[in-house]
Amino acid sequence: MMAELLDVNAGVERFAPIAPKDWAAIPEALRPNLLGFTGQTMWEGAEAALGLDAAGFVNKAWCALEAHSPEIQRRTALTWESATGALETYTFAQLNEHANCVANGLQSLGVTKGDRVFVFLERIPELYWTILGILKLGAIAGPLFAAFGPDAVQDRLSDSGAVAIVTSPVLKARVDGVRDELPNLKHVIVVDHRSTTGWQRQPGDVSYAECIANQSHVFKTVHTTADDGSVMHYTSGTTGKPKGALHRHGAILSQWATAKYVLDLKPETDVYWCTADPGWVTGTAYGMFGPWSMGVHQLVTEAPFNASHWYRLIQDHGVTVWYTAPTAIRMLMKAGEALPVQYDLSSLRHLCSVGEPLNPEAIVWGQKALGHAFHDTWWQTETGCMHVVNTPTMAIKPGSMGKPIVGIVVGILNEQWEPVPEGEEGHLALRPSAPSLFKTYWNREEVYQSKFQNGWYLTGDRAWQDADGYVWFVGRDDDVINTAGHLVGPFEVESALVEHPAVAEAAVIGKPCPERLEVVKAFVSLKTEYLPENDEAKTKLLNDIQQFVRHRLAAHAMPREISLVDSIPKTRSGKIMRRLLKARELGLPEGDLSTLEE
Ligand code: WT7
Repeated sequence: MMAELLDVNAGVERFAPIAPKDWAAIPEALRPNLLGFTGQTMWEGAEAALGLDAAGFVNKAWCALEAHSPEIQRRTALTWESATGALETYTFAQLNEHANCVANGLQSLGVTKGDRVFVFLERIPELYWTILGILKLGAIAGPLFAAFGPDAVQDRLSDSGAVAIVTSPVLKARVDGVRDELPNLKHVIVVDHRSTTGWQRQPGDVSYAECIANQSHVFKTVHTTADDGSVMHYTSGTTGKPKGALHRHGAILSQWATAKYVLDLKPETDVYWCTADPGWVTGTAYGMFGPWSMGVHQLVTEAPFNASHWYRLIQDHGVTVWYTAPTAIRMLMKAGEALPVQYDLSSLRHLCSVGEPLNPEAIVWGQKALGHAFHDTWWQTETGCMHVVNTPTMAIKPGSMGKPIVGIVVGILNEQWEPVPEGEEGHLALRPSAPSLFKTYWNREEVYQSKFQNGWYLTGDRAWQDADGYVWFVGRDDDVINTAGHLVGPFEVESALVEHPAVAEAAVIGKPCPERLEVVKAFVSLKTEYLPENDEAKTKLLNDIQQFVRHRLAAHAMPREISLVDSIPKTRSGKIMRRLLKARELGLPEGDLSTLEE
């Protein structure tokens, strides 16, 4: 139990509940979709709305692009603003044509249903329609965050046995470096028509311009069922390298439902902005499938976070519904209240957040600075859709994650996996009933099975539930680090650290940080011959170790702090005692040390 995470919500009692808006006073068209909803599950009615017969054909990409009326197909699906401010817009019909070119191109290379195809691109339109095209072909799409280094790319491609990857001239270099280790990877497709950067053609390389762009715009979506694999996102755990959480096509049912009832999207009027990259589950579930299956116009921006830039985007594009993350909100708060008043943000009507505990201050700040409270949502890569939420019609209790969506039962369990009395803390678990719950961890069926106990799916979080059914987050139940909403497994970072020539042993923990929730902190013991002679040499070495991890894994996985230690505390069976290191770091009680190695 990580008591220090509670600090994020310190002083919760100072915050009174926030009542929902007075809907009677709000024009009919702007009242929440959820008003009057009487279903038994939130996803009830999704099949009919999407024109599906769940027993038969279900394909997420088809739902996002083709399930719509001809009128919606002619509407804008995507407005994209490039890093330099150039704009491109695509209708649903145009996105579909591009996705069809991708599906035809991959098919011509021999890719078939069930094959794993990865997409390693900057946040450009090709990223979106390539994922959609892969799914139309019935293949499994593996989106990769563009900041990943060669080790992170290799781990994922190798574990999944990917046959193809679609990448850019810049990112291709990171794939080339590890290609010898990837015997299954037959095709590297390079999106070469946007950049002037040259690229070196190697055996198996294919130009997007030559092989995809000139394909037919027509493609009949391959027959997939609700149970067939669709998107695979790698997610970190305590032990081992990241695991591939495989989603089903049927996930679209609850993604559609939560986009409608929690994000409250309305196809006629909304301009919706999800700030997450499709490399993470939020960026596919709610930056692609949920909203597009509803026929909603989405904004995508290539540029990274910048406070004034973000306010300008809301103003210029007339964003109405915004789904973002606590770290970004905290950064906006830091930029000051004088900044938002310089922009016209009156288009905003509903704000939601996900990924980390949302502190009460941030919720209330939204109300003050942007005119609307942020509505927290809790879910995870494995659940595939929001599970604990604040809908627009609920009173918000600042500091709580909200209540389970209709049709989901939450359990707070003890060590025997039985429910604890109301108000007590325990393991946060769910009855596995959502259509979006993951299908398996790729190649790790036994780890997948271990997540189910007594009929519950165990989330790996700790929480408690109050008398009104609101769920309050306490912390992670394991050693996984949550830095700015990205999960980092300590083992991945430790593995990268010990590859550095100077490092003998390494242990990694999450250290609380007021802005990013946690940062990666490493404890490292050095090989004797590398011990630095003076402070200058030490600084240089530590910096070198940091950059080493940054380039191999990703910037967010880089230890922002490194302490040199003589040895790493381990159990007698050789397991690193991260909790002991963490307790020492935070000045907390060290707990049971009986298993500590002498
Ligand atoms: C973990 C899942 C799917 C969302 C993106 C992250 C933490 C998520 C909240 C929240 C407190 C949260 C949990 C969860 N988390 N949302 N609203 N309040 N913590 O997906 O990378 O699979 O991470 O993020 O610890 O288990 P993910």
